[in-house]
Amino acid sequence: MNVVLGVGAGIAAYKACELLRLFTESGHIVRVVPTRDALRFVGEPTWAALSGNPVTTDVWDSVHEVPHVRIGQNADLVVVAPATADILAKAAHGLAGDLLTNTLLTARCPVVFAPAMHTEMWEHPATRANVETLRARGSIVIDPAVGRLTGADTGPGRLPDPAEIFAVCARVLRGRPRDLAGRTVVVSAGGTREAIDPVRYLGNRSSGLQGYALARTAVARGAEVVLVSANAALPDPAGAKVVRVESAVELREAVLAAAGSADVVVMAAAVADFRPATALESKIKKTDDAPAAISLVKNPDILAELGERRRSGVAGPSVIVGFAAETDDVLANGQAKLARKGCDLLVVNQVGRGLAFGTPDNAATVLVAGGAPVEVPRGPKEDVADAVWDLVAPRLP
Ligand code: CTP
Repeated sequence: MNVVLGVGAGIAAYKACELLRLFTESGHIVRVVPTRDALRFVGEPTWAALSGNPVTTDVWDSVHEVPHVRIGQNADLVVVAPATADILAKAAHGLAGDLLTNTLLTARCPVVFAPAMHTEMWEHPATRANVETLRARGSIVIDPAVGRLTGADTGPGRLPDPAEIFAVCARVLRGRPRDLAGRTVVVSAGGTREAIDPVRYLGNRSSGLQGYALARTAVARGAEVVLVSANAALPDPAGAKVVRVESAVELREAVLAAAGSADVVVMAAAVADFRPATALESKIKKTDDAPAAISLVKNPDILAELGERRRSGVAGPSVIVGFAAETDDVLANGQAKLARKGCDLLVVNQVGRGLAFGTPDNAATVLVAGGAPVEVPRGPKEDVADAVWDLVAPRLP
């Protein structure tokens, strides 16, 4: 595999030599891309000798080979170790002032950051926000180890052991089956908003994180992805076509339009079951007589409709996946819903009491039509997404 090892200007750069050895000794081809200042810690000859490949830091060397694009495009994995606060900030904001940051923008493969810095820098709100952004986009940011730092101080900020970083990278490289190549998948994500008047709506707490993780992992597994996003404030997953909608009615239109030529539809969006019977054209004023009640009408059930269409032979997905967020009687409610909606898989989450909404982690039980349920242990939403695709892929004709 082609691995790019980005090296930031931190004292822990010397530990990246060991990481490089672990990659080359297990047969990977490694291209080291340090920042210019990283070479103050470990020099170019060391990286060149250990990797057996040329080492450059800026985009002006070997321009005829267009390195600022090629290196990222050809990579199967980019790992940045140590990732300084500066690199995390540049990556989060898409700056492209040197070869490493250009490579991070052109790479479509998994990216792993192994940060190392002083505790204050790691804990600073700016760094926290940058790490959040990178994680929301699908990069893996390994939490630094806790221990003795460069000076006399101790705390979180140490580069994890190179063997640990290597283990994370090896898992990422192993866990990328291209089993959705040539398939089209539609994923709905987020939560619908049902207008009351021009400024107010009925909504729900769905963040869209799980749906975006499904889209991102499907892209990584080779699928063409249409992500129908209802009001999620998240960066577009690289490689997915994003269609933005607000209400359940709009969501239905977008999903059904894309479903006709899709192999899989995953309804991860939280769809409002009801909407106000009329959306007022003028804002309700405090001085108005308070409306006695907002009368509601039922929204279409998109998932059930997909199931019905399939039963009546309309062209569309061969695998239909639903989600169910339940607060009580989780499994019993889930089984009833699976049957009622006519889907193949139903991913059931327990919600409430701080579980699932807006958190990067999730745990789920996937109910399988005509089969035994599959437990997905608590872990990143990406892992839950991969567990869903693991069940979807073998069901495709
Ligand atoms: N769903 C849908 N259209 C709706 C409501 C829900 O397509 N109008 C989909 C959701 O995207 C999800 C699944 O149906 O995949 C289950 O959603 P949920 O709200 O749990 O189901 P409901 O049928 O609304 O059941 P409940 O009585 O629990 O509200």
